[in-house]
Amino acid sequence: MSNKIETMLVNAGRDKKFCHGAVNPVVQRASSIVFDSVASKKQATKLRAEGELFYGRRGTLTHFALQQAMTEIEGGAGCSLYPCGAAAVANTILAFVKQGDHILVTESAYEPTQDFCTKTLTRLGVTTTYFPPIMSSASGIADLIQPNTRLVFLESPSSITMEVQDIPGLVKQIKSINPEIIIVIDNTWAAGVLFKPLQHGVDISIQAGTKYIIGHSDAMIGTAVSNARCWDTLRENSYLMGQTVDADTAYLASRGLRTLGVRLAQHHKSGIEVANWLAKHPKVARVNHPALPECPGHEFYVRDFSGSSGLFSFILDTKLDDTELAHYLDHFTHFKMAYSWGGFESLILANQPEEMAAIRPATGVTFTGTLIRLHIGLENVEDLLEDLQAGFERIS
Ligand SMILES: Cc1ncc(COP(=O)(O)O)c(C=O)c1O
Repeated sequence: MSNKIETMLVNAGRDKKFCHGAVNPVVQRASSIVFDSVASKKQATKLRAEGELFYGRRGTLTHFALQQAMTEIEGGAGCSLYPCGAAAVANTILAFVKQGDHILVTESAYEPTQDFCTKTLTRLGVTTTYFPPIMSSASGIADLIQPNTRLVFLESPSSITMEVQDIPGLVKQIKSINPEIIIVIDNTWAAGVLFKPLQHGVDISIQAGTKYIIGHSDAMIGTAVSNARCWDTLRENSYLMGQTVDADTAYLASRGLRTLGVRLAQHHKSGIEVANWLAKHPKVARVNHPALPECPGHEFYVRDFSGSSGLFSFILDTKLDDTELAHYLDHFTHFKMAYSWGGFESLILANQPEEMAAIRPATGVTFTGTLIRLHIGLENVEDLLEDLQAGFERIS
């Protein structure tokens, strides 16, 4: 089988045993799996963690096809599936921590990830230290590791502000202090394709498959691809926590993979075109796009990523008050206001500097204007630029 990503995305998980003669895997909806004999029940029980049909919660052929595809694409030993990205994050962390443990989490992680650590893990006796996406000292993350540090959680580029982390550098520092520490990354921005964390020593790569894998904003799923050392623990803990997804959604995720390559190529091209246009606009103070040289960590993007997806942000040259912000946001034609991202459509959301400062206490914020987060979809770029220009005229 080819190791070229476009071909891999088309073929991964489409084994004969999952497709039954069709192009795509079958949708096998099941809770109960019927055993023909005592011997076959015994065999299924023995091999239940290794892709043998056993019980719906362990997965059906539809799930196995997706798990195999994700494992191949991200280069792991196995893939757990979850009902959404947030469940993938929470259950991956929960699989490895116990009372009295300490974890390190990048302060630029998706806000609900931080909330889970601060609220739920604290209640369970697990403490969290947050660290800036880009460490200023040379010793960096090494200074933060405690004897009871069990896990480090990364997300790159940063949620909303887009700094790119030196993942290989962080992994090296962590492993040099304690190779037992589990390293997990939220790899949603790279869609598991543009950056391959497991190749850089990360143990588990999580995705909110809700975004680019599903790709059409109509279903939710989470994936966690693990290397061999963490796979048994991750799989069994997720199973015990009842983490599962319905076969129809697993099917949609597999189907999303087939067009992911061309969608990402277009998100990359259009996103950079819009980012470059914004960078020259007089109303824009700064553009936060990993592919632009002024983005903190741009050198790591150039070194480690094979391209960019469609999500980035920019800072207006002024802070809009509530009325101005509503006048700006309420009248876009193509950019819709909605949470989530990674679908075919363009989206827009705003964050005020003080809102960002509240979720980045260690890093701080260096901007004073309103931050606008864009997801560049698959529309014609000229239409998107016209829409953005009309927006700037509303606030001039
Ligand atoms: C980076 C990132 N991780 C995780 C999630 C959570 O995914 P879900 O909405 O599928 O729970 C999101 C959702 O926006 C996200 O942006």
